[in-house]
Amino acid sequence: MKLIVGNHKMNLSASEIVEYVNYFKEKNYSNVFFAPSNPYLMKFVDNNLNTVSQDVSPFNNGAYTGDVSASQLKSIGINYSIVGHSERREYYQDDNFVNAKVIRLLEQGLNPIICVGEKKEERENNRYKERVFEEIDEAFKNIVKNLLSSVIIAYEPIWSIGTGLVPSNDKIEEMVSEIKNYVHANYGVDIKVLYGGSVNNKNIESLEQIKNVDGYLVGGCSIKMNEFNELIEKVQ
Ligand code: PGA
Repeated sequence: MKLIVGNHKMNLSASEIVEYVNYFKEKNYSNVFFAPSNPYLMKFVDNNLNTVSQDVSPFNNGAYTGDVSASQLKSIGINYSIVGHSERREYYQDDNFVNAKVIRLLEQGLNPIICVGEKKEERENNRYKERVFEEIDEAFKNIVKNLLSSVIIAYEPIWSIGTGLVPSNDKIEEMVSEIKNYVHANYGVDIKVLYGGSVNNKNIESLEQIKNVDGYLVGGCSIKMNEFNELIEKVQ
């Protein structure tokens, strides 16, 4: 069964979350994971929904105002965190912290969902593979092989996020297999690769034709519960 991660980003009010949680807790989807804003994490955990943090601190516990540590996430029963989302790389210089964040998560036994993906110019200049491989190498620095198997990669071309533009199925399939082969050849592990970028309830049937994708990271569509549910029901 494919993994589906709904990344809410900075959306939804407390009352909308109550409605959302009530709706999905009835569904009992074991393959669907929710990444709400931090104030709502416990609400998802308490209702036995698979819960993902949108980010994690690169530091251990201590004087880091505003941060949430991997051990705090673990202490409330969270096992997954997104790392290196392109929005954090753009607005918070996260390129510099991805490796430390991955290490903090792995130290606590959590699973990092590492986002990688090229910019529009890198796609146009045919530098997209190099860019993604660089991001993988940076994220995987100094990590022992037996821990890497709990890493999930989300391939999200930056030009596709929130734009409605989706690469052709062939292009997605090509990159997913490039990523899997690269990680296998250079790190000796087989990892899961998700696709993300403008996935919705309308284009999911076509994306489902892709052979090697292990799931989807869904942004905008995941905050509309009916549309997200329609998407989920169309995924094998
Ligand atoms: P989108 O976002 O589905 O709104 O394009 C995906 C993501 O940023 O993870």
